[in-house]
Amino acid sequence: MTGHLPRHVAVIMDGNGRWAGQRNLPRRVGHWEGMKAVREAVEGALETGVGILTLYAFSTQNWSRPAEEIEALMGVLQSFAERERRNLAREGVRVRVLGEVERLDAPSRDAVRRIVEATRDGDALLLNLMISYGAREEIVGAARALAEAARAGLLETDSIDEGTFRSALLTGSVPDPDLLIRTSGEMRISNFMLWHLAYTELYVTPVLWPDFTRDDLFAAILDYQRRERRFGRVTAG
Ligand code: FPP
Repeated sequence: MTGHLPRHVAVIMDGNGRWAGQRNLPRRVGHWEGMKAVREAVEGALETGVGILTLYAFSTQNWSRPAEEIEALMGVLQSFAERERRNLAREGVRVRVLGEVERLDAPSRDAVRRIVEATRDGDALLLNLMISYGAREEIVGAARALAEAARAGLLETDSIDEGTFRSALLTGSVPDPDLLIRTSGEMRISNFMLWHLAYTELYVTPVLWPDFTRDDLFAAILDYQRRERRFGRVTAG
């Protein structure tokens, strides 16, 4: 692919339930199909040379779904980690899992630990899986950590700037996404990376996540390449 590439692409994977509903299938089948689309997105990212792919797999708010669906989602996560660990390691993909991992059940925490460990040397693509993640919760956590550091005399409040605030975030080490893709046509951010999306280009596609292919990723990147990013400034020249 020619033209300037987004260095970091983030995806709100949405529409698994509707995909299943359209076929009179249980919602969990939509989540299993969604796992195949994750492979498509990874291969598309490797093919184009995008450096970082961040996928919103499970939000803090998703804990309010019925227990049966949460169980299905944890099953998909475990199966993904089991099936994909070696493939991803071979492809040079390094997996990181960001979110409240301590809230996951023990088999899911084990699966996360194994996939992170098996892929730790990958340098072709960084794959961030956001699991039990919520951006407001993350921002509140950062504010609390900074307040505690100030109270303990470890930090001057005047020294708190964008850099210090970012580094207090759970995702402090994740650079801002250049491009955010949301599937299933919803025009919402849904509590995803609120700090980082300040100047991110947004791309919404009607495609339901289980139907997402690498061609949909390429279409989003081509659209991005036609945009002019100004970061609040006027156009040069
Ligand atoms: C949103 O669809 C999707 C989710 C809540 C889960 C996303 C998870 C996967 C794609 C599974 C595989 C991921 C990994 C990383 C193993 P929805 O259920 O909200 O769909 P709806 O809006 O149509 O009901």
